Amino acid sequence: MGTDSFNFMYEENMENLQDLQNKILTDISSAANLKKLEEIRVSVLGKKGLITEKMKTLGSLSMEDKIALGKELNLLKTTIENTLNERKQFLENQELNHRLANETIDVTLPIRPETQGRIHPISKIYEEIVAIFGEMGFEVAEGPDIEDQFHNFNALNMPADHPARQMQDTFYINNPNSPNVDDSFVIRTHTSPVQIRTMEKKHPPIRIIAPGRTYRSDYDATHTPMFHQVEGLVIDKTTTMAHLKGCLYDFVRAFFEIDNIKVRYRPSYFPFTEPSAEMDIGCRKSKDELKIGEGEDWLEILGCGMVHPKVLAAGGIDPNEYQGFAFGMGFDRLAMLKYGIPDLRTFFESDIRWLKYYGFVPLDESSMTGGLSNNGGLAR
Ligand code: PHE
Repeated sequence: MGTDSFNFMYEENMENLQDLQNKILTDISSAANLKKLEEIRVSVLGKKGLITEKMKTLGSLSMEDKIALGKELNLLKTTIENTLNERKQFLENQELNHRLANETIDVTLPIRPETQGRIHPISKIYEEIVAIFGEMGFEVAEGPDIEDQFHNFNALNMPADHPARQMQDTFYINNPNSPNVDDSFVIRTHTSPVQIRTMEKKHPPIRIIAPGRTYRSDYDATHTPMFHQVEGLVIDKTTTMAHLKGCLYDFVRAFFEIDNIKVRYRPSYFPFTEPSAEMDIGCRKSKDELKIGEGEDWLEILGCGMVHPKVLAAGGIDPNEYQGFAFGMGFDRLAMLKYGIPDLRTFFESDIRWLKYYGFVPLDESSMTGGLSNNGGLAR
């Protein structure tokens, strides 16, 4: 081709249409890219293109010539159009294949060494908890942070005059549709409302954990107004306190990565479980160190018990047919313990220096087989 002006190349007086066609088709099939192809199309079929111009001359011809030439020109036009389309398809495919071949990524390349992001210890603990209970066959359930009082209190066998409902503990939110305080919302004070929400949605057997944010009006070195809990709920026909103990023992062994960790259960009280207990783990407290798993001291880590029949009924489950256990555990304090972080408030101060020190390298995922906490993955 060698020139950009095709009109110039296909000279107007080129009378032999067959020659013209051959020339154009050769040019089309040797057009190296889509841009060139488009140039050819415009110069031949465009508004001022060669064929278009020729069509315009038909008007001045005799009827006979008009019919004959018109027919030939139309045929020529169709042939050119078809060839253009074929070539276009071909070039497009070629371009695609070229891109596919060139835009590959090498997944074996090392990650960029300057990666700075860190996983927050709370997120890490969250992943660890999900990994451990996931291995035991628990599903993760969720509920809203803004709850109604039915789910947060009433359905959990906490009548209106229960101390936990007093203003100093609970953050209430006005209900725009009702001035009645009983209708106001709360930001959930624990993850236990997810027990009720799960029972409303699912039929037993139920085996869920519900990790998430919880809120109470409290603030010191071991309490923040927003903190994290994980709820556990197991319901079946023959679920017993023995299952509860076995399950939680397996959990703390896996979580603290201590096989013979010492534990004990103390009788306790929660409105929504009967009987209720608290679980402690053994530890040794010395002046400036806390050693977990052995020693003469005890550390309370969670509340638990057999689901109260009234709670089952409130969730729409027949307490004569089903029974189950539940537990609830604050895991911010577990993160402090496990990773030696002295003040809970620093968790939520968003200090990038703190996160660089206490955070985790993103690629070290928690799993029961691949290593839970990957202490080697600590950023420090
Ligand atoms: N919801 C309780 C709390 O916040 C913990 C708990 C959950 C206790 C489930 C027993 C059973 O303290």
